[in-house]
Amino acid sequence: MNLQGRDFLKEIDFTQLEFLYLIDLAIDLKAQKRERREVRRMVGRNICLIFEKTSTRTRCAFEVAAFDQGAQTTYLDGLSSQVGHKESIADTARVLSRYYDAIEYRGKTQSQVEELAEYSGVPVYNGLTDEWHPTQMLADFMTMIEHSGKRPNEIAFTYVGDARSNMGNSLLVTSALLGADIRIASPKQLWPAEDVQALARDLAEKNGGKILLTEDMDEALPGSDFVHTDVWVSMGESAEVWKERVELLGSYQVNDAALAKTGNPNAKFMHCLPGFHNEQTTVGREIAHKTGMHDGLEVTHDVFESPASVVFDQAENRLHTIKAIMVATIGD
Ligand code: CP
Ligand code: NVA
Repeated sequence: MNLQGRDFLKEIDFTQLEFLYLIDLAIDLKAQKRERREVRRMVGRNICLIFEKTSTRTRCAFEVAAFDQGAQTTYLDGLSSQVGHKESIADTARVLSRYYDAIEYRGKTQSQVEELAEYSGVPVYNGLTDEWHPTQMLADFMTMIEHSGKRPNEIAFTYVGDARSNMGNSLLVTSALLGADIRIASPKQLWPAEDVQALARDLAEKNGGKILLTEDMDEALPGSDFVHTDVWVSMGESAEVWKERVELLGSYQVNDAALAKTGNPNAKFMHCLPGFHNEQTTVGREIAHKTGMHDGLEVTHDVFESPASVVFDQAENRLHTIKAIMVATIGD
């Protein structure tokens, strides 16, 4: 499989076979690191990391993955660089391609990362936009494979919550690409946009995937191997939408009752993180006090901390999968 020089801007940049190859490579790289036999395939490479939104996992995963493989990184944000406010994306792409072997970009619109890739002479990786979160998808499917022992086309899972954002869109389309059985439980106003649904339906038909969009948790959850959720208000959205979102999603919290509805004693809980499950964050505390939701927002503290929760394995897999995408596209 040769993926040299390829961008990763959205999940469908890769075929099913290529996507699965990247997950298998990540599983191998994870074992190599654990057994202290990692082969460095990126010695002397330089990677530029542009973050116009905040990050813990994605940034650290790119940096550690690069260092593990012998590469160097530079971190740029909107304040300490010219990106966006003083220099266009097109000019930035042409400058950075003269220094770097690859560029990661986290920003607002998908069109920005697409423009960066158009003008860049080196691979560009989407580290999250409002529309897609493709590097997260490699980690999520790797985690589901590891915890279920199933291949993606044998996995059934439910995504509960705000489904018209990056995570809902990406989980829907990636499931369809890999032939999985995805159920989305969310109020209709928060379902993925029509064009995203159409793309997913088309892919699911070709790949033997199943899609259910419903407002009813009782319809979605039975038989699920995994229950995913995400924050109810994403980065870049106004704090004002919290009130409306809590009203819409309050009954879609992942709690013990929701997990029990899977009817599967082995069902696992997943969340891309960061997540609001207690009042130990400024936002979590403020929203809890305003709404009276004192037992977590999108997920209860009990579920988050329960043996069913695989969120930290999922977070760890960001490292191995991000390493896989870099090794495959710019490694020796
Ligand atoms: N899941 C994820 O992308 O986390 P960060 O925002 O911390 O990078
Ligand atoms: N939907 C979330 C994902 C964070 C990783 C956001 O965009 O803020």
